[in-house]
Amino acid sequence: MGKSKVLIVGGTGYVGRRIVKASLEQGHETYVLQRPEIGLDIEKVQMLLSFKKQGARLVEASVTDHESLVDAVKQVDVVICTMSGVHFRSHNLLMQLKLVEAIKTAGNVKRFLPSEFGMDPARMGHALEPGRVSFDEKMVVRKAIEDANIPFTYISANCFAGYFAANLSQMRTLLPPRDKVLLYGDANVKVVYMDEDDVATYTIKTIDDPRTLNKTVYLRPPENILTQRQLIDKWEKLIGKKLDKFSISEQDFLASMKDLDYASQVGVGHFYHIFYEGCLTNFEIEEGGEEASELYPEVNYTRMDQYLRVNKQSRGEAMGKSKVLVVGGTGYVGRRIVKASLEQGHETYVLQRPEIGLDIEKVQMLLSFKKQGARLVEASVSDHESLVDAVKQVDVVICTMSGVHFRSHNLLMQLKLVEAIKTAGNVKRFLPSEFGMDPAQMGHALEPGRVTFDEKMIVRKAIEDANIPFTYISANCFAGYFAANLSQMKTLLPPRDKVLLYADGNVKVVYMDEDDVATYTIKTIDDPRALNKTVYLRPPENILTQRQLIEKWEKLIGRQLEKSSISEQDFLASMKGMDLADQVGVGHFYHIYYEGCLTNFDIGEGGEEASQLYPEVKYTRMDQYLKVKRRT
Ligand SMILES: NC(=O)c1ccc[n+]([C@@H]2O[C@H](COP(=O)([O-])OP(=O)(O)OC[C@H]3O[C@@H](n4cnc5c(N)ncnc54)[C@H](OP(=O)(O)O)[C@@H]3O)[C@@H](O)[C@H]2O)c1
Repeated sequence: MGKSKVLIVGGTGYVGRRIVKASLEQGHETYVLQRPEIGLDIEKVQMLLSFKKQGARLVEASVTDHESLVDAVKQVDVVICTMSGVHFRSHNLLMQLKLVEAIKTAGNVKRFLPSEFGMDPARMGHALEPGRVSFDEKMVVRKAIEDANIPFTYISANCFAGYFAANLSQMRTLLPPRDKVLLYGDANVKVVYMDEDDVATYTIKTIDDPRTLNKTVYLRPPENILTQRQLIDKWEKLIGKKLDKFSISEQDFLASMKDLDYASQVGVGHFYHIFYEGCLTNFEIEEGGEEASELYPEVNYTRMDQYLRVNKQSRGEAMGKSKVLVVGGTGYVGRRIVKASLEQGHETYVLQRPEIGLDIEKVQMLLSFKKQGARLVEASVSDHESLVDAVKQVDVVICTMSGVHFRSHNLLMQLKLVEAIKTAGNVKRFLPSEFGMDPAQMGHALEPGRVTFDEKMIVRKAIEDANIPFTYISANCFAGYFAANLSQMKTLLPPRDKVLLYADGNVKVVYMDEDDVATYTIKTIDDPRALNKTVYLRPPENILTQRQLIEKWEKLIGRQLEKSSISEQDFLASMKGMDLADQVGVGHFYHIYYEGCLTNFDIGEGGEEASQLYPEVKYTRMDQYLKVKRRT
């Protein structure tokens, strides 16, 4: 196609993932750096795999391994770095120096875009401490680039809408205030708000454009140059109501920095420069700069009223199906259940916990649910009244509270939810956070892993004691954790050469695509056959031994893996010296792969099998699932 090949470093990040998407959309051969350091971070692994599904290539390399980085860089023409640079989130801008070194060694790169995407650091020489560190570090990186004569483009992206517009530029929240809004001075300073997807679109536009070579490209689309007051006006028009306004003087605002923690001080400094000083708009674009919307008038950038519209509370229509509340909706399983609930036509509510604060990933996911038609219900698990109010709005409650030890584990917090459901008294079905092995079958489980089953049984007892109608979903092995890696521990990606078999690898296991777990789960909620029952997900073609799974993979890659085997005894002995999370993991693997606890019993009276109940569901077979994991 004659378009540059692009490598994105930091591709699973907030900006990075959008740049990957834009690069693919604009037809570039797109490479994404895959760092071995991501280990068992299932969110990053799954995001990388979804990039692959969309046509990107994953390149293994570590920022701390020069050779690997040089090899990665050599495969492409353009490198874009989106390494983290938000203090209350993660901040590693200077790690880019390693990347600059590698680009210098490789010698082939036609354009490098470092992690900028904010205010122009070249204009921030006067910035306040301690926030100036962001600009100083970006300037250090610029100097390294220019000293090495690497062709560059710097993107000055101004205010990301997710951080600055959705919240009407309030600090300490990422959602719009309900009643009161704080104005910075008279709030008449011009600011530039940018939809993050547009930032990515413009960024990719620049990479093959000679007009942007060795230039700073400012994103200043004219209709998005707004004062804070104008932004608030747009919001008030959308919600049809005026907010109470308070103003804080420059002096008081600066004084507020005292006693704040470091990350918040950085934030106050940045807000000061943007909203009092007007640093985004108080200069003309000169010789070394270009303006993006002038260069690319074809881009139909998102205006802020359009952007804000989705933040407005939507009103779904009742459809005769149960109304569903998902508690834990931004989680790994939860988000799939929200999606399945919406897809199957349920009025869907998602609990929005005030505790999520400035977690922009969670906030944006909640907003995307809303866009798809869900309602957000504010309540805290630690505030009984709020939880009762939330529960009262629906017929069915599904809890997907965290329960993976190396990730996060809070199963017993569900007791608060059970209390609220009991008080509310209206719930027709409750599905607690189960979605794994059937805890009722695990009375004999090994320490310390048994804690998972014990806690799930405590929750069951509370539900049954309170006479709450329930369905328990026994979802067996999630494919993301157990199939993608051919059931290896300590990785979530398929091994290249060698694979470890648990004993003879002939014990029957059940592998489930997580989206199918969600589909079956939602199917059960209005089904009288599933009332007060355990529904086992055991679709026949997904009952496989580890060996059969490996064979499917070998067929896909057209090559045999070297196999070694670990005996039951050695496997159990390996637990010694491990940390708690790993010990829990070994215990679970033991029960699944040696004992066969997923399949060594017939489904009895109190149970049903999902694929028999819902033969219409075309569940994902594991060869199909694995296909996307194959190296492209
Ligand atoms: N204008 C604005 O309003 C605004 C707002 C936010 C951010 N920004 C700017 O945008 C840029 C990107 O920020 P972001 O929020 O998108 O970042 P982020 O999501 O916090 O992180 C981006 C990526 O940095 C990589 N990373 C983090 N720690 C690392 C480490 N120790 N070693 C190697 N890689 C590491 C990770 O890459 P992997 O994918 O490899 O894991 C991560 O996904 C920054 O320059 C920031 O200043 C601007």
